[in-house]
Amino acid sequence: MAAGKGTRMKSRLPKVLQRLAGVPLVQHVLHTAAQLQARSAVVITGHGAAEVEASLTASAASSPSTALQFVRQEPQLGTGHAVQQAVPALADDGLVVILSGDVPLTQADTLQALIAASAGTRLALLTIEFADPTGYGRIVRDGAQVKAIVEHKDASEAQRALREVYSGIMAVPARLLKPWLARLDNQNAQGEYYLTDIVKFAVADGVEVVAHTIQDALQVAGINSPLQLAELERAHQLRQAHALMAQGVRLQDPARFDLRGQLDCGQDVEIDVNCIFDGRVSLGEGVRVGANCVIANCSIAAGAVIHPFTHIDGEKLGVSVGEGALIGPFARLRPGAQLAAEVHIGNFVEVKNSTLAKGAKANHLAYLGDATVGERVNYGAGSITANYDGANKHRTVIEADVHIGSNSVLIAPVTIGAGGTVGGGSTITKSTEPGALSVARGKQLSLANWKRPEKKPKTN
Ligand code: UD1
Ligand code: CA
Repeated sequence: MAAGKGTRMKSRLPKVLQRLAGVPLVQHVLHTAAQLQARSAVVITGHGAAEVEASLTASAASSPSTALQFVRQEPQLGTGHAVQQAVPALADDGLVVILSGDVPLTQADTLQALIAASAGTRLALLTIEFADPTGYGRIVRDGAQVKAIVEHKDASEAQRALREVYSGIMAVPARLLKPWLARLDNQNAQGEYYLTDIVKFAVADGVEVVAHTIQDALQVAGINSPLQLAELERAHQLRQAHALMAQGVRLQDPARFDLRGQLDCGQDVEIDVNCIFDGRVSLGEGVRVGANCVIANCSIAAGAVIHPFTHIDGEKLGVSVGEGALIGPFARLRPGAQLAAEVHIGNFVEVKNSTLAKGAKANHLAYLGDATVGERVNYGAGSITANYDGANKHRTVIEADVHIGSNSVLIAPVTIGAGGTVGGGSTITKSTEPGALSVARGKQLSLANWKRPEKKPKTN
């Protein structure tokens, strides 16, 4: 169910597209469904339907085994009415698991247990006990047997005292669900078609209703406001941090850690405070990441050190950092930066779509774009590859053991031959021979005993 408006978010973005851990809420739910090997996922859209559908279609390629279907619910007349719209999309021999697009952190193993409780013959409800159950549908039992769900607004004082509530998640065989949906009405306090009324029908039809109760409130927490979104984000991040620490990763402070994707870590990885990891990142054995780094779509080999305030984003091309490399502080690695072992990239150095061979160094204030850099090259402070002529990108090749003097401009396409030297301040426009010293700058002129102009003394 992803048709609701989410008024309290006060956002132009449909609620289910708000992001938790960098991923739209409803995408978390679909990811969980894919883990269940669901045959198909039917998304009921309404508010912002076109936007929600476009967003999910764009990311659907990531779980090709679960077919994605959309049905629209317009207007929104309640949860029962929402599921009625999906009836034509539900195979009669299927088991239907009903989830909410704004409840992102349900775990697949919880749903597997719920599916097992349904066993293809029963109506299984996911329930939880709350100290304050205000607002939720109450689980009404007769002895141990579940008899009904009564919505808060329809409940008597005695029923409101019940603390076991319906989470909003159920598993039910499609062949049972369909006729029950057809019998729903809206004769209740909210004038809505309540999905929860099917419990009464199950009881009347002699179908067993079972409750699978969990303790973990995060798994059923829904999001209605920016504050709830932020609170769930922190709770989720803390869990991710704890899981990594249980694997041996040493986080300086698990409360100041953010993972918005997948992070794989070797042994003895250390991560200082306020780092953000996005997309797919892998950190080899003994990698150390300093404070305040943002690292996305990148693989960092064993023993590399990422100093504070480094920004790495490989986007689609990726970034790779070799063994024992030293990066930062204040370095920027962009898509296609491929750094071999023991490369050094220092402060305010930007690298894009460039390969640096073993031991190459660019330590200060430099740009390397569309470059192929050989082993042991020393790329001087302030140097630039001028890779863009206004229309096309060109490559710069710097062969092994070259020294590029400070503040040089290499106008691509150009090749600096192996072992060559470029004098500081040169603008190199033509390729150079191996071993050559190339200097391309104004010649120094020195005039002896030069007197600067002098100010005249003031007269009154
Ligand atoms: C629902 C349950 C309640 C349960 C609670 C758990 C019903 C009648 N009540 O209440 O027993 O304790 O969830 O959070 O089901 N939606 C649609 N179309 C609609 C109405 C809702 O798609 O016409 C979607 C919402 O966007 C949301 C989900 O269904 O994702 C649940 O709707 P919501 O209004 O939050 O249900 P509650 O009244 O809180
Ligand atoms: Ca709700």
